[in-house]
This record gives sequence, C-alpha cells and structure tokens, in this order.
Amino acid sequence: IRQELGSLHGIPLFKSFIEGWPQVKAFQARPDDLLISTYPKSGTTWLSEIMDMIYHDGDVEKCRRDAIYNRVPFLEMKVSKGPSGVEQLENTPSPRLVKTHLPVQLLPTSFWEKDCKIIYMARNPKDVVISYYYFHHMAKIHPDPGTKAEFLENFMAGKVAYGSWYDHVRGWWEKKQEKMLYLFYEDMKKDPRREVQKILHFLGKELAEGTVERILHHTSFQEMKKNPAANYETMLPTMMDHSVSPFLRKGISGDWKNHFTVAQNERFNQHYQEHMAGSDLHFQMEV
Ligand code: A3P
Repeated sequence: IRQELGSLHGIPLFKSFIEGWPQVKAFQARPDDLLISTYPKSGTTWLSEIMDMIYHDGDVEKCRRDAIYNRVPFLEMKVSKGPSGVEQLENTPSPRLVKTHLPVQLLPTSFWEKDCKIIYMARNPKDVVISYYYFHHMAKIHPDPGTKAEFLENFMAGKVAYGSWYDHVRGWWEKKQEKMLYLFYEDMKKDPRREVQKILHFLGKELAEGTVERILHHTSFQEMKKNPAANYETMLPTMMDHSVSPFLRKGISGDWKNHFTVAQNERFNQHYQEHMAGSDLHFQMEV
C-alpha cells in the first residue's frame, strides 16, 4: 500500500488525504473543540492521551473505552476503508478533541472563526527525523524511506509528508496567540507535572493532586507502551507493522545521537541555523 506522495497547496501529502481535502477544508469546528496540532512524530499521541485523561478527570477505565485514534479523531485522515477523520468527528459528541498535522496555513478557517483552543506540541527536528524514519518503515501508508542518509536529505528538503518541519513549527509559532498553547516534547520529558499544570491552567480547569498523579502515571511511556488503547497495536497489521518498529519506540530526547554521523550532524546544524535564523523559537536537542 506504499504510495508516492501527492501535493496539497505545495505540501507533500498522502494522495488519499488529498482526495478528502474538500471535506476537510469545509469542516465545521465547534467553539468547544480543542485542537491538538503537531508536526508528525512530535508527541501527538502522548499529548492526546494526556488530554483525554484530563477531559475524563483521570478516569483510566474511561480512557480505555477505545483506541486513541478514535478517541481523538485525525481531522485530515482518509484511507480507502473506514470512516474519514471528518466523518468520525461529525459523530463525536462535544467537547471534541481533534488531532491535526496540517501546517497553519491549511487549517480549516472554521477553527479560527469559532475561536477554538489550540495546543501545539513541537519536538526537536533531530529526534523527529529519526522517529519519522522508523515510522516510515512500520506505517505502510508512507513511501519507502530509503536509507537513513537519504531520508535525512528528504526531511531537510521538506520532501516528506507534511512538508518542511521548519515551516511547520515556525508557522504555528508565529500564529501563537491567547487561545493557543505552544508546548515542547523536551519540556514534557523534563517535567511532565509542570506541563500538565500549564495545560490545566490553559483550560481553566483544576484537578486534585491525586488525579494529576494518576494522569502522569497513565501517560508515562512505559504505561502507554503496554496500553492497547494508546499504543496503536489495534491498527490493522497491513497499515502498521509493530514487529518492524513499535509505534512507541523509545520515547526519549537525544536518540538522534545514536543515529547521526558526525558529518550529518554538522550539516544538519548548519541547515538548522540557516532555517531558524531570525526566529525566537528555540529547541533543546536533548534533555
Ligand atoms: P520515538 O519514535 O522517538 O520513540 P507521534 O505520536 O506524534 O507520532 O509521536 C511519536 C513519538 O512520541 C515516538 O517517538 C513515541 O515513542 C513518542 N511517545 C509516545 N508516547 C510517549 C510518552 N508517553 N512519553 C514519551 N514519548 C512518547
């Protein structure tokens, strides 16, 4: 089922998603929708599980009611079988959690018109590219990633699904306003309690200390890895092959060091400096 990517307004994307674009563009957000936005492999599933736990006051059983990709529907998702993300969302009662990887300029306008709350989560690009490389191997919707060196080049050139990581993180950063919370994977690794408190503050919600404790435990890498409702193991093996690489692979910051050569790292650093020049957005490459 591997396919070459198509192009949606200049952004490389799966052809089946592009076919569904008219419905996504016309999507009607509701004012109490909360959008979880990320570049792929930046901790989307982690943040989604945290959000569902917060929405259910830390009730672990309620958060096992369905797989994460059904509890937090993926807005622009469309594959040949099964409901699209838009169809899933239309059948989801409010308040909805909505997942997207769309770059900011492609977000359906209704999210802005309805003034929806948005949480963006970013992760350093070196860990993203390694995570994305392994994900290409296991998630068969992607084109063949080629060698690690080839994939690194494609990633830097923005020739992967969802395009340039630089444009994505910068685009959302520049759009940051009152109704948007911009989080970092590395901060979440370093101090998840503080980040969860930030989210609660953003939502205007208070939870008892014991509930926060339960959320932190349930959304730890180890717990999520063994939770079938969070680890994607319920996906069809034709779509995702966990024997090639598990969805919850390592869950650390700085794994890139085990993969980049010295020369690749130097080249990447230079490319990074050029593409982040003039921005006050900064990343921690390890924690
Ligand atoms: P690695 O491949 O580096 O392990 P996304 O959900 O956006 O696709 O991101 C997937 C990445 O987030 C994977 O990174 C995965 O292991 C990591 N991840 C998922 N849940 C996590 C958790 N609870 N703690 C830390 N990392 C997590």
